[in-house]
Amino acid sequence: LVFKHARILGPADPLPSLLREFELRHPGVRVKSESLPWTTDEQHQFYVINLEGGRPGLDVLMLDVIWVPEFARAGWLLDLTPFLPPGELAPHFPASVEAATYNGRIWALPWIMNVGLLYYRAALLAKYGLRPPQTYAELLEQVREIRTGERDARVHGFLWQGKQYEGLVVNVLEGLWANGTRLLGEDGTVFPHPQRAEEVLAFLRRLIQDGVSPPWVTAGDEELTRRAFGDGRAVFLRSWPYALDLFEAPGSAVRGKVGIAPLPRHTHGSEGAGATGGAHLGVYRATRHPAAALALARFLAGEAAQKAMAGGVALNPTRTALYHDPDLVRGHPKLPEIYRLAVRARPRPVTPYYLMLSSSLQPEFSAALVGLKPPQQAVAQARRRIEHFLEAIR
Ligand code: GLC
Repeated sequence: LVFKHARILGPADPLPSLLREFELRHPGVRVKSESLPWTTDEQHQFYVINLEGGRPGLDVLMLDVIWVPEFARAGWLLDLTPFLPPGELAPHFPASVEAATYNGRIWALPWIMNVGLLYYRAALLAKYGLRPPQTYAELLEQVREIRTGERDARVHGFLWQGKQYEGLVVNVLEGLWANGTRLLGEDGTVFPHPQRAEEVLAFLRRLIQDGVSPPWVTAGDEELTRRAFGDGRAVFLRSWPYALDLFEAPGSAVRGKVGIAPLPRHTHGSEGAGATGGAHLGVYRATRHPAAALALARFLAGEAAQKAMAGGVALNPTRTALYHDPDLVRGHPKLPEIYRLAVRARPRPVTPYYLMLSSSLQPEFSAALVGLKPPQQAVAQARRRIEHFLEAIR
């Protein structure tokens, strides 16, 4: 079996030993694991090129949650519905199961849950008597206060993902939710409150102009921003839970000094919410070994393997009970908090055309951040692109 997956970061990757354990339990089966490029966009490109070619050389695929409907519709995934006894998916977050569902069938098994959250330098905030900010206005105020107090202009205020890729779309969607709006209204309107969307882009642009975020956030992905925060060079970071273990690793400059909180809200929003993210395991439809491939996906999505992943590299489970598992919580005391954030999290639009939506948005959002387009124009053009595209698929 060939198992394709994203690179696993962290000091104690449990995947190799999980795969050896699987082989021991399935004599005659050998698993070769191959890692994909770092960003989700590059992974997507790899899959599309190879799956379209028809000889992809893989059996089990790690999938970003946003791709499942697209891959199912393209005919690349084995329909797992007939193999799943009722209740098999009940222990997982409903949002993860929903992301695995297309046309009422299940196309992948939930494996890793992600949720967007705010990291803050707990010791630094405490020094100034501050609590994690609930609004972005508060966040700005805190950055100002801490920077003045520390007399250190090299400390960045707030890091986030502004590179032109999926991560940017996630950051902007979270901004829309935080400002009481969304990308697609209930009735399908694109940007139902254009002005609120413009405010979000203008806010992000201003962060850079005012030096709260360094100019390089417009090229920043998860890893670049994670490293800068991990080196102690920023007060706040928007990212996913995977970074926690890296911050807490021996030798880390921020070890024991990092807190997590819900993302703040903007003026029109009632609360901030992180996006759901994460990964599913699919089986390639034309695999020559469907039974073994399904067994591997099941094994990895199972409780013991999810527990090992969460314990080893902070890739958090889709199985909700594990967030309160005493062994896990002992080593990862923030798990119950991550659970509370995860249940409040919101999905990106669930559609086989998600990638098309996202790639229409990316250049417009990016142009607004780097100051090439006023936010108003970026939102208007993004809206036109999406309307045009929705028209075409109707
Ligand atoms: C993380 C999330 C994934 C998201 C990506 C964006 O990998 O798990 O769902 O699409 O970040 O960069």
